[in-house]
Amino acid sequence: MAIFGKDEKKSVQPDTACLPRHVAIIMDGNGRWAQKRGMPRTFGHRAGVEALRAIIRHTDDLGIEALTIYAFSAENWRRSAEEVGALMKLLLEYFTKEIDELNEKNVRIRILGDIDGMPKGLEKQQAALHAAVERTHTNTGLNLNIALNYGGQQEIVRAAQNLAKRVKAGELEPEAIDKAAFESELYTAGLPDVDFLIRTSGEMRLSNFLLYQLAYAEFYQTDTLWPDFDEHAYDEALAAYGRRNRRFGGV
Ligand code: FPP
Repeated sequence: MAIFGKDEKKSVQPDTACLPRHVAIIMDGNGRWAQKRGMPRTFGHRAGVEALRAIIRHTDDLGIEALTIYAFSAENWRRSAEEVGALMKLLLEYFTKEIDELNEKNVRIRILGDIDGMPKGLEKQQAALHAAVERTHTNTGLNLNIALNYGGQQEIVRAAQNLAKRVKAGELEPEAIDKAAFESELYTAGLPDVDFLIRTSGEMRLSNFLLYQLAYAEFYQTDTLWPDFDEHAYDEALAAYGRRNRRFGGV
């Protein structure tokens, strides 16, 4: 006898005592998901936003402290104008429609990346991003970090430049540049290091994502394409994290 109904998926429950404090996700596979359905890549990105909504909700329900998602890299501008335009439209839609609910849920939004360095013509997006950060900055619930026009190498270079400026201004001694001082100049200042990195769609690359913060993150990859990555797939990933033996260089 079938225990689960036709549409019901068997869910693996993560051990709530062993959850990561900070999860990062490379949401890969939207284009292939759409192409498999004979649809344009932008259809996949729209479906990707739906998947993202559910994953944010579930992260919040589980009480995880921080979620960082890779929405648009500093290198993604190389995609076709049509695809970039569609992603920017989705972004504006997302920040217009979702912000009330996220704010009500006490979610604090940070944008990791160079908002002001986005190309001309995206002033509405820039304003919406700044407004979301400003509006939620005193919230104390889930830290939702959206990496946008982001590159890990660029973030490290920027931190070095900021420290150099502080040294030049006489505010900081070069000898005082330690791990804490460096981290205070990263976009993720004040947040715990990433414990768990998930990448969907079978690719095994870091793609210039959180190069500093991933130092001791556990890596999980799944062949599931991002739009199909639902709460059950997430629970399965989190359960796998709970079984990892983290040693941080020890034995
Ligand atoms: C990678 O899949 C996905 C992206 C580059 C964009 C991810 C963006 C979203 C899920 C939506 C936008 C986010 C917000 C916050 C509104 P791909 O296009 O590289 O897929 P492929 O590897 O199959 O080609």
